[in-house]
Amino acid sequence: MTKKLNILIITFFLTSIFIHAYNLYSENLNKNINMGNLVYFMLLEGRGFKNPDFNSDQLPGVKLEFGEAIKYIKKERYEKLTWYKCITGNGEFYLPETFVDEKRFSDYQLDLNGNIVIGTAEIDRVYSIPLDYMPTDLVSLNNKIKAKGYEWRKMRLRAEAKTMFERMIQDAEVSGLNISIISSFRDSKYQSMLYTRAINRHGINENSVAKPGHSEHQLGTACDLTSDEVGYALSKGFEKSLAYEWLTKNSWRYGIFLTYPRLKQRITGYTYEPWHYRYWGKDHWNKIFSKYRIMLK
Ligand code: DAL
Ligand code: ZN
Repeated sequence: MTKKLNILIITFFLTSIFIHAYNLYSENLNKNINMGNLVYFMLLEGRGFKNPDFNSDQLPGVKLEFGEAIKYIKKERYEKLTWYKCITGNGEFYLPETFVDEKRFSDYQLDLNGNIVIGTAEIDRVYSIPLDYMPTDLVSLNNKIKAKGYEWRKMRLRAEAKTMFERMIQDAEVSGLNISIISSFRDSKYQSMLYTRAINRHGINENSVAKPGHSEHQLGTACDLTSDEVGYALSKGFEKSLAYEWLTKNSWRYGIFLTYPRLKQRITGYTYEPWHYRYWGKDHWNKIFSKYRIMLK
């Protein structure tokens, strides 16, 4: 009788532990599914892969929109790439890190018009700004400061940045040098097109174009510069031009700085761009200049 009772008590005890463990497990499982983190799909539009592999079929019925927020259940590594396992009503599918962005917003300040206070956003491979961010004070650039052959291109900058780039270009001209602009403000959709094109041309490890939301061009305060000395191209040869030498000596006077220097390639994660300059704001250039001097040492 006692033996039977003992068995009963042990069985009851084990069953309770099992039920408790199961509840904990399913609670966590649900938590993982319900709390799945968000990623943002960034191609202009597209489909999910059935497996974490570019050669796998695409899941029918899954059509993703640019900037769509998607929950992922977990991340998997496959062939040196992180794949996000996502879930929709149509089933599970995978997205490669190449085409999604785990949002981590830069710690910037906004003014009363909803514009990012110039010089407050640090944008890099990790931190970004919202895909739908567009400054409200963009103004068109005069053909005179556009690179020859690019007059047809619609170019815009935030008013304050335009004034400073324009002033710098005019002062360089007084010194007998030609500096002109090839690219200025770019919205995130346009950046997405450039990014996709770069991936198609150079492969998934390309490091010359930022993901949408991660480009300083979306701030409306950055420009790609060129000169007649390099045939108005965006080329590394620009670093040998007199225009580049002048910029190295003088751009800081206008609050304008090179973002991707040769010696910072490992830090920035982008290839050296002697042409890409950002205006950091007249109130901020002192701070940046001291940073810049420290960097040069
Ligand atoms: N080329 C720089 C990294 C950009 O796309 O903003
Ligand atoms: Zn650029």
